[in-house]
Amino acid sequence: MNNDEEIRKKIDSMDLSAPPPENEPERQYYFIKAARKLLKEKFEADVASGKALERYGKERLDEMLTKEFFGTCCVVTFGCQMNARDSEKLTAILEQIGYQEAEDENADFVLYNTCTVRENANLKVYGRLGQLGARKKKHPEMLIGLCGCMMQEPEVVQKLKTSYRFVDLIFGTHNIFQLAELITRRFLEKKMLVEVWEGTDKIVENLPVDRKYAFKSGVNIMFGCNNFCSYCIVPYVRGRERSRSPEEIINEIKRLADDGVVEIMLLGQNVNSYGKTLAEPISFAELLRRVEEIPGIERIRFMTSHPKDLSDELIQVMKESKKVCPHLHLPLQSGSSRILKAMNRKYTKEQYLELAAKIRQAVPDISLTTDIIVGFPGETEEDFLETMDVVEKVQFDSAFTFIYSKRTGTPAAAMENQVPEDVVKDRFDRLLKLVQETGAKVSGRELGTVQKVLVEEINSHDSHLVTGRLGNNTVVHFPGDASLIGKIVDVHMDEFKGFYYMGTKVR
Ligand code: SAH
Ligand code: SF4
Ligand code: F3S
Repeated sequence: MNNDEEIRKKIDSMDLSAPPPENEPERQYYFIKAARKLLKEKFEADVASGKALERYGKERLDEMLTKEFFGTCCVVTFGCQMNARDSEKLTAILEQIGYQEAEDENADFVLYNTCTVRENANLKVYGRLGQLGARKKKHPEMLIGLCGCMMQEPEVVQKLKTSYRFVDLIFGTHNIFQLAELITRRFLEKKMLVEVWEGTDKIVENLPVDRKYAFKSGVNIMFGCNNFCSYCIVPYVRGRERSRSPEEIINEIKRLADDGVVEIMLLGQNVNSYGKTLAEPISFAELLRRVEEIPGIERIRFMTSHPKDLSDELIQVMKESKKVCPHLHLPLQSGSSRILKAMNRKYTKEQYLELAAKIRQAVPDISLTTDIIVGFPGETEEDFLETMDVVEKVQFDSAFTFIYSKRTGTPAAAMENQVPEDVVKDRFDRLLKLVQETGAKVSGRELGTVQKVLVEEINSHDSHLVTGRLGNNTVVHFPGDASLIGKIVDVHMDEFKGFYYMGTKVR
């Protein structure tokens, strides 16, 4: 019996005439059943009155009736891989409650899982929310929920309470596991419900998860961050660093492998400090060794590495491992030691360059990628040129470049000498150009060779092609069909197109 069926059985066995259990996850199993009951009653009333037919149309309604769904839902993810993984958990809880996933926001329950890492992320959410509010005017019975990092900011919640009264449910990053409990309360109380925890040391295991892809999956190995880089809001909205136990992680990956998953991405804000705070400490490198032994798992990726904690032991594992992919995302942020100090990054330009050289020496074909911030307070032209120098020296395959965004509550927001917008924009353009030039030079090194490719999907522009990824994460398109999806195949790299290949399957 797989994990989902086990969880389903436990949910069904809960006794709703008794008070809710105190322990997790049993408490949430109880509320999944309770919410399901309430949703079903409403749905049955709507079917009887003809409202359901009007809302869903005949085809959809028939499908819902046969598959025992009592409503539709849509979870929209903003932000990083952690949020994407959280959304898979939220979707699974909604499905257990009886919501069927809809194609778009034309659904009974719409949940935005938000990001607040840069001001732009917030603006996107407010924009989409405005449109959703207009939709709700026409369909007053729909529910709108907001969760994730933005909700951990009191000013945001205040703004929602005053200017976005149509929102039904607000919760934060620490209590996403409570979704079923909160929905039950919202069903009963029938008014805006806000429940945002300030922090937690809890890690609730064994709730349902729904995977977006059948053959690959993210796996959280830790939550939160303790680094407090001076520009960054993440430690405030995600809380203190907590590692999952290696046993829980290994068991989850074994279950995923049994279920057909071949590639996993280990997730954490700073995976290199994994395990240090556990009762029985274990290093990230050691965790990788253990994951490597799991049969069925062919590819192991991880995100994100902080340069200050990247150990020789990890480099050794990457060198020896057959499964750990030759790709390292190593955020630089700035090439100026002075700015790095102000950013509280705890490494210098020289240390970063040494580290990159050491990794390249151990794993020569590795793809190095990075994140860079332009316009941190006090950044001078000289500081910026140091960043350009590192990009030239390291030769990243690609880099995400960001304009510094002031986040209220972080130390950098209170710093004087914020850099003028036009200066930042000019530097940003110069950096982007250099990043693209160096990227085009170094990627493409596999041209003319045969590489292992994990096929991910049918090409979105040409249905005769499939799209997959090399171990180093480079994209390749080649002729093939849906039967290849989820398989690892040998592909000849025929042509390099700047940042992807066109190829031919070998056998
Ligand atoms: N934990 C990861 C990063 C998470 S945030 C790490 O330490 O590498 C992803 C990226 O967003 C960061 O690497 C940084 O480049 C960028 N970022 C974070 N805060 C920012 C801010 N205030 N302005 C601009 N970019 C920011
Ligand atoms: Fe933010 Fe730094 Fe933590 Fe990354 S390591 S999440 S940049 S504080
Ligand atoms: Fe954004 Fe939160 Fe991730 S702020 S980048 S979604 S941890």
